[in-house]
Amino acid sequence: MTQFIPQRLLVTGGAGFIGSNFVHYWTSHYPQTPLWVLDALTYAGNLNNIHTLIENHQISFIQGDINNPVLIHDLLNQHQIDTIIHFAAESHVDRSILGPGAFVNTNVLGTFNLLETFRQYWIGQGKPDHLRFLHISTDEVFGSLAPHEPSFSETTAYAPNSPYSASKAGSDHLVRSYFHTYGLPTLITNCSNNYGPYHFPEKLIPLMCVNILLGQTLPVYGDGLNVRDWLFVEDHCRAIDVVLHHAPAGETFNIGGNCEITNIDLITTLCRLMDELALNLPVAPSHRLITFVTDRPGHDRRYGMDTTKIKTQLGWLPSVSLEEGLRKTVSWYLNHSDWWMPLLSDDYRRYYHQVYGT
Ligand code: NAD
Ligand code: TYD
Repeated sequence: MTQFIPQRLLVTGGAGFIGSNFVHYWTSHYPQTPLWVLDALTYAGNLNNIHTLIENHQISFIQGDINNPVLIHDLLNQHQIDTIIHFAAESHVDRSILGPGAFVNTNVLGTFNLLETFRQYWIGQGKPDHLRFLHISTDEVFGSLAPHEPSFSETTAYAPNSPYSASKAGSDHLVRSYFHTYGLPTLITNCSNNYGPYHFPEKLIPLMCVNILLGQTLPVYGDGLNVRDWLFVEDHCRAIDVVLHHAPAGETFNIGGNCEITNIDLITTLCRLMDELALNLPVAPSHRLITFVTDRPGHDRRYGMDTTKIKTQLGWLPSVSLEEGLRKTVSWYLNHSDWWMPLLSDDYRRYYHQVYGT
């Protein structure tokens, strides 16, 4: 198996949900590797996610935009980066429906800028094999599955349906083309829905946790029978670790929890766990808060991931069951109102009003 040892990491989007979990994972497993986080701190970026690591000088933080070529050029050269792990993105389907422009700007143009600046840097170094550009992507690029269709594999044709997934598909294609055209040592991972700590409270699972704790309605789109495959975020971080160390450049891997569930079953499970773990909920049992609302336009019916390739080639498997991961997540939101309460800002309420109308 290929063995690549990252020496000096640049993590884009490291103040967001998965990026910050990854930075915590990496610093606890590889405390000796210098790591720089570059993040624009959009509404989804939060320095509180990584402030202990910054204060303890375990990582360095730079606020900036992946669309800034001068900044990227300087960072790569000053710190002699050999590995970029690219999480930075606009990541919420509902926001992409309200305003697709930011998605094209960050996900397509930003990724292009990062790739192109990295390519120039790689050329300047004499095109070494021992650099990596790992692009973090999503199962949503493959489109929507009917109930009995086989899960997405690495060879499934792309068929994105939302401006979010279309912009991620565009970025995946650019990354792929930079390997095939220039030989730039790139990797792509496509992962299913993640959940866990530090998840901004407008995505399904944190939104439900926060609303149960506040006694607010739990908005379920359509009939609630859309299916997603959920993966605990720490398992995703471990998969990225394995891909980075062992995958040959140019490869792409699907990552998933092998754990498909309808939204309504997932939400009912969250309610059960909250009822069990929380004292004095404003409304109990909390499933009384479930409210069916107008469906999301173009809502993909089902995502499912075939993870045979990463299992057989790299030996990765999810290790946290859905019940266990949801229990950890519910406990985390229960014990971290100091983290999520300040995020329910006027901007958040405006967004909420735009999407849900109340
Ligand atoms: P997130 O929205 O929580 O975080 C994105 C981060 O990127 C934020 O910190 C934000 O400030 C930063 N950012 C946005 N635009 C930027 C720019 N122009 N320059 C620099 N930084 C910028 O997203 P997430 O859920 O952590 O997702 C991370 C990556 O993983 C994304 O690429 C996403 O497509 C992918 N992904 C997410 C999931 C999921 O379930 N959340 C699943 C599969 C793949
Ligand atoms: P989301 O977390 O936005 O992820 P994605 O759409 O990228 O998979 O939503 C997960 C599922 O939950 C999706 O089918 C849409 C649904 N959903 C609701 O039913 N209500 C909500 O308020 C939200 C945010 C999502």
